[in-house]
Amino acid sequence: MRRREFLSLAAASLATPALNISRAWAAEPGAPLLIPEVMDIAPGAGNALDARRGTRDFIAGAASETWGYSQEYLGPLLRFRRGRIANISVTNRLDEPITAHWHGMHVPGYLDGGPQLAFGPGETWAPELPIDHPAATLFYHSHIHGRTGPQVYRGLAGMIIIDDPGIKDPLPHDYGVNDFPLIVQDRRFDRSGRMIYGLGMMDRMHGFRGDQILVNGVVRPKLTVPAGLVRLRILNASNARVYDFRFTDGRQFHQVASDGGLLDRPLAMASLQLDGAERAEIVVDFSDRSPVSLVSRDIRMGGMMNGGMMGDWGGSMMMGDRGMMGDRGRMGDRGMMGMGGNSGTPLEIMSFDVGEASPAGPTRLPTSLPSDAPALGDPVRRRDFTLNMHTRGMMRGGMMGGDGQMMGINGEPYVMDRIDETIRAGETELWRINTDMMMRHTFHVHGTSFRVVRQNGRPVDSARIGWKDVVRVQGPTEILLRFDKLASEETPFMYHCHILEHEDVGMMGQFTVT
Ligand code: C2O
Ligand code: CU
Ligand code: CU
Repeated sequence: MRRREFLSLAAASLATPALNISRAWAAEPGAPLLIPEVMDIAPGAGNALDARRGTRDFIAGAASETWGYSQEYLGPLLRFRRGRIANISVTNRLDEPITAHWHGMHVPGYLDGGPQLAFGPGETWAPELPIDHPAATLFYHSHIHGRTGPQVYRGLAGMIIIDDPGIKDPLPHDYGVNDFPLIVQDRRFDRSGRMIYGLGMMDRMHGFRGDQILVNGVVRPKLTVPAGLVRLRILNASNARVYDFRFTDGRQFHQVASDGGLLDRPLAMASLQLDGAERAEIVVDFSDRSPVSLVSRDIRMGGMMNGGMMGDWGGSMMMGDRGMMGDRGRMGDRGMMGMGGNSGTPLEIMSFDVGEASPAGPTRLPTSLPSDAPALGDPVRRRDFTLNMHTRGMMRGGMMGGDGQMMGINGEPYVMDRIDETIRAGETELWRINTDMMMRHTFHVHGTSFRVVRQNGRPVDSARIGWKDVVRVQGPTEILLRFDKLASEETPFMYHCHILEHEDVGMMGQFTVT
């Protein structure tokens, strides 16, 4: 692809109409945060999810058409207990095939809910899930090949909490009282206030970005928290947007868990960056009783057009020792500046009011946490993956057009009946992931969690990153992983970019574990 094509694409996407109407209602104070109902997944019957249509007035007076699992939009909070078998049945009451993927959960391929496990209108999928995963905050969502972006956008997504009866949770854990799920998504609305999903050139290239932020399906909500320690389980369930969360008063908070479970110890920080599908649990001290807002800087996605070719931040590509967090997001901002992008104003995510102190719950953070990630040892094999912004498929199908497979991994767009890798269970491997065209992506692996060991040439302190299943990739990234769950050719595991618009056009591969 030539430089001129890229630049004209950029010009086209900058002409995308600004959403004037949204400015008007964006100024109104937030509605109360909705707290998803809990579905306690116990053995035996009764755990039924219905994927169905609904409507939701995200903006007063404008009904948007939505989808949800047993709700009008999103799904209930699924609560699983480690060591149990969970029976759950999902019925498709929509008019196209869907799946239910338990993102991050360690289950064998035939239970994973990947693209091969699609079920059509009127059909029910009823897996029996052996819960063999440390205490963690996970994600569930539909995973239909080619349509994951629009289906998740409509609402086929939710949060999972895994409880481990074998540990004593030293953190706030009274759901809806001092322990809150925050499912963060960005959405776009048309002039009448209805939610829309349409992909302009920039969306196709960088993934969809909306200009309004929803938490648990409410635009910029307000939450009243007790005066004291509060746990927030943050899931970036956006199709592509990266957040850099911080509080308006700059207060410190502690991260206590990442994707796959608890960290070794609470980690103090003032900002937290999450790419798509990443999770973080944080504990915030509200005992000073001052109201505060959670905001995010507007992080751009980098890429040749934004940075490399414009030449204003080439050197900063190599920054980011911390890998997952810290201030490396700054590079993305600078990328868009040259293109006239707006990156200065923080986006408001939600606001907090502080009520009475809660009668129960810990008043101090522990110095260490009962984290439970295995030691992986030394790798016996290495594999290399390059995330490609264009492949031969794209050349055939033409620039970004149509629904064809254009992006890929290692030069090939995803093909459902091709197995890309065969992996032996129980063997630790080192995977090296890189990108072409300096674009920022993520890399997600099904069936296990991993350690991030090096990013952009620097070692990563894994105690600070924790046990992951998604990692940001913008330069060489090395992860250490081992698979204990099996996956066959019929129901393989996936690895893919979790920018859903990239995954949908082929930035995905699949593998067996035998
Ligand atoms: Cu969140 Cu392959 O998925
Ligand atoms: Cu997944
Ligand atoms: Cu990507």
